[in-house]
Amino acid sequence: MNTVRVNLGSRSYDIVITPGDPAGIGPFVRSALRKASTALVVCDANTQAHGRTVEATLTAAGLRTGFATVPAGEPSKCMEQLAKLYDALYDLAADRSTAVVAVGGGVIGDLAGFAAASYNRGLPLVMVPTTSLSMVDSSVGGKTGINHPKGKNLIGAFHQPAGVWIDLSYLDTLPEREFLSGLAEVVKYGVILDAEFFAYLEANAAAVRARTPQALAHIVSRSCRLKADVVEKDEHETTGLRAILNYGHTFAHAFETCGGYGSLLHGEAVSIGMECAARLARKMELIGADFVARQTKLLQAIALPIVPPAQWPTDELIAVMRRDKKAVGGQMRFILPTQLGAVKLFDNVPEPLVRDVLESR
Ligand SMILES: NC(=O)c1ccc[n+]([C@@H]2O[C@H](COP(=O)([O-])OP(=O)(O)OC[C@H]3O[C@@H](n4cnc5c(N)ncnc54)[C@H](O)[C@@H]3O)[C@@H](O)[C@H]2O)c1
Ligand SMILES: [Zn+2]
Repeated sequence: MNTVRVNLGSRSYDIVITPGDPAGIGPFVRSALRKASTALVVCDANTQAHGRTVEATLTAAGLRTGFATVPAGEPSKCMEQLAKLYDALYDLAADRSTAVVAVGGGVIGDLAGFAAASYNRGLPLVMVPTTSLSMVDSSVGGKTGINHPKGKNLIGAFHQPAGVWIDLSYLDTLPEREFLSGLAEVVKYGVILDAEFFAYLEANAAAVRARTPQALAHIVSRSCRLKADVVEKDEHETTGLRAILNYGHTFAHAFETCGGYGSLLHGEAVSIGMECAARLARKMELIGADFVARQTKLLQAIALPIVPPAQWPTDELIAVMRRDKKAVGGQMRFILPTQLGAVKLFDNVPEPLVRDVLESR
């Protein structure tokens, strides 16, 4: 067992990473939330079995429980499913001693997290991530929310969890493509913050892909630590530091938008986006050719895509990048590497260079 502490003053919390301890979550919730008397377990159809196990240990720990299931997938981050969670909380007679326990991937974490942030002006939240992406990214940092029909994550709130319980054995049931997709964010942390971690991933790519317990424990705890370090310094995205987590994401969002949500998984889009960002940084002479080659090789070793599908028109991709919420006044902004383990924000990147990167596919 491994603990990563997120230091945010009165909102500090622990992320516990265990290789497999199905009975541990009840006592964990009890210790993180001494006053909790009830809990609403939220899951989707694919994480229901894990949710039931969690519910049983919460009951054994003396909590009265409710259980809510939403359909699997991104469309559940909507008003209708949010309203169903509010109903479930009402039926449970929820008050501030009620914990919302999110058992699932980023969709469940964001949706249940936002229900917790808003019901009764805020209920305590415990994250139990079950996908690689949610273990290394979405369950840490306090961003919660749902989608507006016209835009992703437009309705939301910062609401830090009271604790995060990561049981690595939950990954046993996660399909390969989903698992690999989440690893793009892990590579991202190495590139933006930690050259040594990047080298670890290069040396252990096969073990990571094979989901060996030691490799999983290391990459999840290191990723959580690195993300927590950034969140601790810029909790509410006010200093600009938190933006470094968007490395590869300006391109990725354009791919996700033009390809239609669902054609690429988020991590796959991020992988192609990081490849494009590295090539852009090379064109701007920020980094050497060896950097680009190492990143490409690592992404390929993890079986992640690196080439944007040819059918997406460059003009359309560029138009989306200009509208990106990180773009200011239509200028394109990119987080780009200056060396392995360090990135900077670049405003006003010349469009011809971006075009070049997109067209040399
Ligand atoms: N809040 C944040 O900081 C943050 C950060 C990154 C991403 N996100 C959000 O996270 C979401 C993506 O998260 P995701 O990639 O985890 O997707 P997801 O929650 O949709 O999960 C992917 C799929 O795997 C299934 N699944 C989950 N756990 C499983 C398991 N253990 N076994 C079998 N199947 C399982 C789910 O039912 C779903 O079908 C997006 O909505 C994104 O906006 C939020
Ligand atoms: Zn991402």
